[in-house]
Amino acid sequence: MTPVLRMRNLSKQFVKDDKGIVALRDFSLDVAEGGFVSVLGRSGCGKSTILNLLAGLVPPTSGELFYRDRPISRPRVEVGYLTQSDTLMPWRDVRRNIEMPMEVRKVPAARRRERAGELIERVGLRGFERHYPRELSGGMRRRVSLARMLVGDPETLLMDEPFGALDAQLRSDLQKELLRLWQGSGQTVVFVTHDIEEALLLGDRVVVLGRLGRVVLDEAIDLPRPRDPDEMRVDARFVALHGELTGALREGAR
Ligand SMILES: Nc1ncnc2c1ncn2[C@@H]1O[C@H](COP(=O)(O)OP(=O)(O)OP(=O)(O)O)[C@@H](O)[C@H]1O
Ligand SMILES: [Mg+2]
Repeated sequence: MTPVLRMRNLSKQFVKDDKGIVALRDFSLDVAEGGFVSVLGRSGCGKSTILNLLAGLVPPTSGELFYRDRPISRPRVEVGYLTQSDTLMPWRDVRRNIEMPMEVRKVPAARRRERAGELIERVGLRGFERHYPRELSGGMRRRVSLARMLVGDPETLLMDEPFGALDAQLRSDLQKELLRLWQGSGQTVVFVTHDIEEALLLGDRVVVLGRLGRVVLDEAIDLPRPRDPDEMRVDARFVALHGELTGALREGAR
């Protein structure tokens, strides 16, 4: 079957003060339909650059990338992107931020409100519908962004450290919620994280990147689901994988 996302020999170079900065060098990766791929790597190894390319926000310097065999050259509605930094609209309250993608698609107002209400509930923000982004905590803003991405029912989700800034309990709740939504949905997920445990709890495949996006490890995660964090921490296979990923991250830093 054709992969949903196909990246071939991608390189990305930025120019800053007349100097070239290489962010990604000769990066290739396929992502299969319905897969949940965790991408792990140290800060600066090119993770966000890869997602920006996949989202069609920036062009590669060289190489090719495809969404279902069509070259990616602009953002598309089938792909939802939860960026690393906040892109909520400060002049819109929570509900209207979440309704935004539906407004673009001209969904009728009553349906928009209903759907936004469902997602507000799911991410635990009931009671905050009329709050503006500046009136929310960082973790709450993150959850609004998550709801805004999910509201468009994208078939492919690109997520850049979505839960990094959340407290442990909330993080665990939202991980479970994301898995609940994903399982059986057929959606394809590319999930960037710094956290080895998170990568293993969520992914059915983990890709560890080294400098300039070098693929250090690409491994299928065959742990049975649901993966309870407390059980996993004492599971021999989980512990072994954790060790392997720790080693790969260390190797990638070289
Ligand atoms: N717009 C830009 N202009 C210049 N350099 C950039 C730009 N965007 C990224 N870079 C550089 O590209 C490299 C990779 O950046 P990227 O944001 O992809 O890293 P990352 O893996 O997402 O890191 P982090 O985990 O800290 O988010 C870095 O060296 C960064 O400085
Ligand atoms: Mg990043």
